[in-house]
Amino acid sequence: MELQEFFIVLAITIGLVSVCISLINFARWIWVMFLRPSKKLKEYGSWAIITGSAQGIGKALAFEMASKGLNIFLVDKNHSTLEATSNELSEKHGWRVEIKSIVMDLAKLSGEEIAKTIEEGTKGLDVGILVNNAGMCYPYPRFFHEVDSELMENIMKVNMEAATWMTKAVLPGMLKKKKGAIVNIGSASTEIAPSFPLYTLYATTKAYLKLFSRCISLEYKQHGIDIQCQVPVFVATRLTKIKESSLFIPSPETFSKSSIRWIGYDNVCTPYWSHSVMGFVARALPHALLTATIFRYFLGNRKRGQLNELQKKNILQRQSNQL
Ligand SMILES: NC(=O)c1ccc[n+]([C@@H]2O[C@H](COP(=O)([O-])OP(=O)(O)OC[C@H]3O[C@@H](n4cnc5c(N)ncnc54)[C@H](OP(=O)(O)O)[C@@H]3O)[C@@H](O)[C@H]2O)c1
Ligand SMILES: *[C@@H]1O[C@H](CO)[C@@H](O)[C@H](O)[C@H]1NC(C)=O
Repeated sequence: MELQEFFIVLAITIGLVSVCISLINFARWIWVMFLRPSKKLKEYGSWAIITGSAQGIGKALAFEMASKGLNIFLVDKNHSTLEATSNELSEKHGWRVEIKSIVMDLAKLSGEEIAKTIEEGTKGLDVGILVNNAGMCYPYPRFFHEVDSELMENIMKVNMEAATWMTKAVLPGMLKKKKGAIVNIGSASTEIAPSFPLYTLYATTKAYLKLFSRCISLEYKQHGIDIQCQVPVFVATRLTKIKESSLFIPSPETFSKSSIRWIGYDNVCTPYWSHSVMGFVARALPHALLTATIFRYFLGNRKRGQLNELQKKNILQRQSNQL
């Protein structure tokens, strides 16, 4: 064979191999996103604890898990919204599952108080799943020095500390049974871009949760406990102030259906298919371009957020002047 021919054959072979690899990856993606059977969640235990479950993703997860026959233990901070959700859940699924709820402000209690409340509240219950879903973000983007102390404290407490102490509270029971699953709801802010300016505290607390999940998932895998961090992009909830769902922004109900299909698999995952596509595209872009675009976009949102806040203040001022 001549040298020229050899190189042509080599190029064709490399081309074919890389096409094959892409096809295999694509087939695998289709499998895990749409076809792979979900784990039998009841086998982890009969109860699921979900924090921040009065509204948003947490509430949708509660309904989804109840529909799979799990008893639900709701945790949230507002008595009235929690009661409303608990009643709604009872009406729909109360005939087949038990529902308990506990009012707990994860930003106000100390870690030890959180763990103790959960240990006492779940005494005698066969807790199979914990979802650390409660999370806080800035109402709109801002520079780090613009985050007031209370908001800063709350974000760090709810996103990191509370999830850590909740995990500590349920682990001994799971270790005894050698069964259990813990799902930490992280954020794609730690995944799709190398940095997430103007949401610094949010992204860094979620990065903590991601590494925390990765590390302990290895510690407890051999004991039958599946620990995972799920990293959604946008979901149409109050947190994002997005009301309409769309192709890339699922409703919490749609998201929760994908979410529970992933429990027990990878230790970090993007459960919703279009989020996964967004991640794929974002990772292919040059980092500098991506970060600059995000920065510029959030700067615009920050301006708009500030204007809205000012308008609200002015309206309130006018109302109080009229009184
Ligand atoms: N929505 C998204 O696009 C998106 C994207 C990536 C990740 N996430 C993550 O997904 C999780 C759920 O978010 P979401 O969009 O469903 O938000 P959400 O609609 O704001 O719901 C969060 C729930 O957590 C509760 N909560 C907040 N602070 C709490 C505290 N201190 N103690 C107890 N409960 C508390 C809220 O109660 P109140 O109603 O009383 O405040 C609410 O019921 C969060 O961890 C968030 O970071 C969301
Ligand atoms: C609880 O939620 C209700 C209904 O959304 C609201 O009116 C009330 O102010 C909230 N309470 C607290 C303490 O945040």
